[in-house]
Order: sequence, then structure tokens, then C-alpha cells
Amino acid sequence: MNILHINANPKPAAEANSKQLTEAFFKSLKQANSAASITAVDLYADPPPFYDYATYRNFWYPVFDASFKPTAAEKKAVAYAEKHIRCFKQANLLVFTTPMWNFSMPGILKSWIDQVIMPNHTFTIGADGVKPLHQVKAIAVLASSGGAYEPGNPRDCLIPAIQAAFGFLGITDVRLAWAQGQNPFFFKDSAERKAKALVEAAALGTQCARL
Ligand SMILES: Cc1cc2nc3c(=O)[nH]c(=O)nc-3n(C[C@H](O)[C@H](O)[C@H](O)COP(=O)(O)O)c2cc1C
Repeated sequence: MNILHINANPKPAAEANSKQLTEAFFKSLKQANSAASITAVDLYADPPPFYDYATYRNFWYPVFDASFKPTAAEKKAVAYAEKHIRCFKQANLLVFTTPMWNFSMPGILKSWIDQVIMPNHTFTIGADGVKPLHQVKAIAVLASSGGAYEPGNPRDCLIPAIQAAFGFLGITDVRLAWAQGQNPFFFKDSAERKAKALVEAAALGTQCARL
């Protein structure tokens, strides 16, 4: 089992609920499956570039023109995407560590997603539709937010964005451990909510150990 763990939280673990959930998740996952291989990517140590015109040309022009050849400079511009696509394609399970920021994911995580969802690499697209080109079976999201968001709350643009982006690649199994209500001004039970999420993260690690 190959796990690709993407960290999108810049804070130290002592200050970051989502990182603490991640620790609980991996502790129980490793107990249940010591052979699991984990590739860890800290986006703040290896930040993705913004999707740019060279990236667009490299990945999308060949979809419509098989004879397209990028320039040397355009090829160089996609080194990050190519490296991270290779990691993505080796994974069976993706794990995201993310806070909720401004009702969505940190921009650095969105930029990483923009680097790996690429035609002819992680999916094919044509008259017969979109087909996956990867082996990812599921995604575990370890998240934390100041507010609380019941399923379907339109202000939650974090989980639906992950579901939509990876649903496009055929990955519909998105599992969550989410410490909600972590703003102590608004939620008197923030500590209990976090404790519950930590238990859920540990259980999720066991569940995901043999996907
Ligand atoms: C820049 C920033 C934006 C935030 N935006 C939101 C938000 O839109 N909704 C929310 O519920 N909490 C928001 N919060 C609160 C965080 O989601 C909360 O502190 C959470 O615990 C952060 O995760 P972490 O503890 O793993 O770092 C924001 C915090 C920061 C620093």
C-alpha cells in the first residue's frame, strides 16, 4: 500500500489541530499495517507554482493536437508538476492535512491540486468522456475549522472542492476526520469536539490501513 501524504498546514503540530489528527491517523494506520509505505510532502517545504500559461500549453495543447511539442523552456516550467504527478500515480491512498481558511483550502493545496490533475497524466479526456489514469482508491482528509459546518452547508467550500476535483478523476471515496467548532469564542465545547475528532482520526487510520 502506497500512501501520499500532503501537508498544507504551515504551523507546528503543537498549534495545529489538523496535524494532531494526522499524527493520530498515522499512528493507528501503522499499527494496523506496518508495511504501508508513506511518501510525505510538506507543501511549505516544496511549494507548488501557480498554474501558468506554459503549464497550460504543456498539458492541454497535446489533448487537441497530438503533434504539439513544447519548447525547452515550457518543458522546464513543468518540472514540479511532473515530479508530483509521478508520486500521485504511485499512490493508492491520498491523505490531506489541511486547515479551513476563508471557508476553503489553503491556496497552496489548491495549487498542488492544479499541478497533478492533468490530462494524459492522471486522466484522459476525449469524446468517450473522462477516464482515470491513476490507482488512488480513497482520500482521507484531516481537517480543522473554527466554525462548524453540517453536511451541505454552502459556506463549506473545503470538502466539496476536494470531492469535486477528485471526483472528476473517479475518486469518490473521500473520508473525513474534521475538528470543527475550534473557535473557543463561539464554541464552548471546542475541546470536546477536538477530542472526538482525534478519536475519529485514529479510527480512520485503522480503516484506511488496508484499503
Ligand atoms: C487565515 C485564516 C482563515 C480562517 N478562515 C476560517 C473560515 O473561513 N472558517 C472557519 O471555520 N475557520 C477559519 N479559520 C480558523 C481555522 O480554521 C481554525 O483555527 C483551525 O483550527 C485551523 O486548523 P489547524 O488548527 O489545523 O491549523 C481561519 C483561520 C485562519 C488563520
